[in-house]
Amino acid sequence: MSFHRIRSNDEYRAAYAESVRDPHAFWAAQAEHFTWRKKWDAVLEWNFDAPEVKWFSGGKLNITENCLDRHLSTRGDKTAILWEPNDPGGPAQRISYRELHDRVCRYANVLKRNGVQKGDRVCIYMPMIPELVVAVLACARIGAIHSVVFAGFSAQSIADRILDANAAFVLTSDGMVRGAKNIPVKAVVDEALRSCPGVKRVIVTQRTGDPVTMQEGRDVWMHMETGFVDADCPAEEMDAEDPLFILYTSGSTGKPKGVVHTCGGYMVYTDYTFRNVFQYEENDVFWCTADVGWITGHSYIIYGPLLAGATSLMFEGVPTFPDAGRFWQVIDKHQVNIFYTAPTAIRSLMAQGLDFVNPYSLASLKVIGSVGEPINEEAWHWYKEHIGKNNCPIVDTWWQTETGGILISSMAGVTDEKPSYAAWPIPGVQPVLLTAEGKEILENDVEGLLAIKFPWPSIIRTTYGDHERCRQTYFSSYKGYYFTGDGARRDSEGRYRIIGRVDDVINVSGHRFGTAEIENAINESEWVVESAVVGYPHDIKGQGIYAYVIPEKPITDPDQARAEILATVTKVIGPIAKPDKIQFVSGLPKTRSGKIMRRILRKVAENELGSLGDTSTLLDPAVVEEITNNRL
Ligand code: WT7
Repeated sequence: MSFHRIRSNDEYRAAYAESVRDPHAFWAAQAEHFTWRKKWDAVLEWNFDAPEVKWFSGGKLNITENCLDRHLSTRGDKTAILWEPNDPGGPAQRISYRELHDRVCRYANVLKRNGVQKGDRVCIYMPMIPELVVAVLACARIGAIHSVVFAGFSAQSIADRILDANAAFVLTSDGMVRGAKNIPVKAVVDEALRSCPGVKRVIVTQRTGDPVTMQEGRDVWMHMETGFVDADCPAEEMDAEDPLFILYTSGSTGKPKGVVHTCGGYMVYTDYTFRNVFQYEENDVFWCTADVGWITGHSYIIYGPLLAGATSLMFEGVPTFPDAGRFWQVIDKHQVNIFYTAPTAIRSLMAQGLDFVNPYSLASLKVIGSVGEPINEEAWHWYKEHIGKNNCPIVDTWWQTETGGILISSMAGVTDEKPSYAAWPIPGVQPVLLTAEGKEILENDVEGLLAIKFPWPSIIRTTYGDHERCRQTYFSSYKGYYFTGDGARRDSEGRYRIIGRVDDVINVSGHRFGTAEIENAINESEWVVESAVVGYPHDIKGQGIYAYVIPEKPITDPDQARAEILATVTKVIGPIAKPDKIQFVSGLPKTRSGKIMRRILRKVAENELGSLGDTSTLLDPAVVEEITNNRL
């Protein structure tokens, strides 16, 4: 059976109804067109209480056989990865499916040569170069579990993730270039590894040629290693429920957790959503601007597009280098048909003005997408008019690291769209809105907590090394549901609009942090006794980070103290988690039992001083006045 793409609203309605009536038959039909070494015994077994979810159990496959080998006879010479370098004058690279297959096999053989075995965890800390895609797929080829760490995270963050996953292997590069900056990647890894004695091997790819230190017996160069291997590497046979990767993400506690996705269901779902949401057609050039270090890059730079045999554009640089027209220049240069980016990028480029857009035609675009945070109406309309030229459907795709693929989105040009609404659930996805007490709200035109009541193939399976944490975080708040942590509204016709997080998670430029995680980082500064962090609305980033800090001693030079705190956060998490505002306070509003009243801090940060509520029961009501008076 070949893949059937949904082409009309009626077909969407029919598919949706079928997916709810008989999910087993529905997903079996979607799974049919892949290469399975052995077909599954059961489509789905599940229990949200444990939680335990198994898709296509007993099925045997290798996802890289489906991303690569399967295409060789029909698409061998087609470009799989189209790489645009940071430097606009540098040569782009077109890597065909045949060449990518070859490179993945060689890299996989290098991994084996260095002792990596099926089931081993491999940490990948690399910039946006083709070798990153090759490394990811090489792990998958031999059944090693990749754990990609975004190359903007600090040494300490890498170390935490390596230790949590007990990874003995690290794949990295000498350096990286982003905009006008040259960043020493290997040196950051070296620092991380000082606290990771379990790492046996580091494989280093050359990108910048900058000098690095190689530790004898531990570190090897990729370009030397490839000389020892050939391009013959049969794919390891994996069970559908074997782990494919771990990806760390922040929650409401201080420590990020390793979200685990497995081979079969993730494959079926990323492929299905890629083709349907974006209405991908053979020979479309698809560009997702995310970094491979996030789930968006995993699912819609690598796996989804390659499973579909598409050409996936990978961009090394930043949207503002050499100027704020770079995205639009790249779209024209490579005749991009489908463009997928984040609201924060849209807003920041919108703020630069149309002079950066107007030189480009953008006529190749057919579909434009948004992901990572709510897109406000103003940005939606600007995107529609100035980038889509009122000629491209916009897909506002709602999903999470834990969901593996898009759960709620219109399908481009097929189902209708509405500004600031993600809109319609993907077939197979059964969203509900709950009251705070966990009761399902059945009517339309309502708001509630967004939960999902039936599994989809790429649902999170566990949090690495701590299944109980997975249960508690996602499956225990409301029995029988996967709880998303988001609040949502459903309009009178059933479209969903995501309002934002209802937990202690903030979403800064589409990046997720726990407030506790940032507080822990701030508290490592010797200037700090205690801190409390909240999000506040930010024109460009969606949410900004507002930190209230009790200093160790009276502050004589606030700028210096702030710089010191920012440096600490950069060291502990990375520059992306730096607070936008730091207010020094003499105390924090606490209840008599010592709990910080975040609601008050949020209101102050949002400048909603009229709605602070009753503060008389606080331990020290005077502190609220001080905080309000000195608000930044
Ligand atoms: C959180 C998940 C999904 C990949 C990127 C982020 C927010 C995501 C949307 C959207 C409104 C969105 C939610 C969600 N979010 N997409 N289209 N509209 N909010 O993945 O880091 O796991 O974050 O991002 O709050 O829970 P993530």
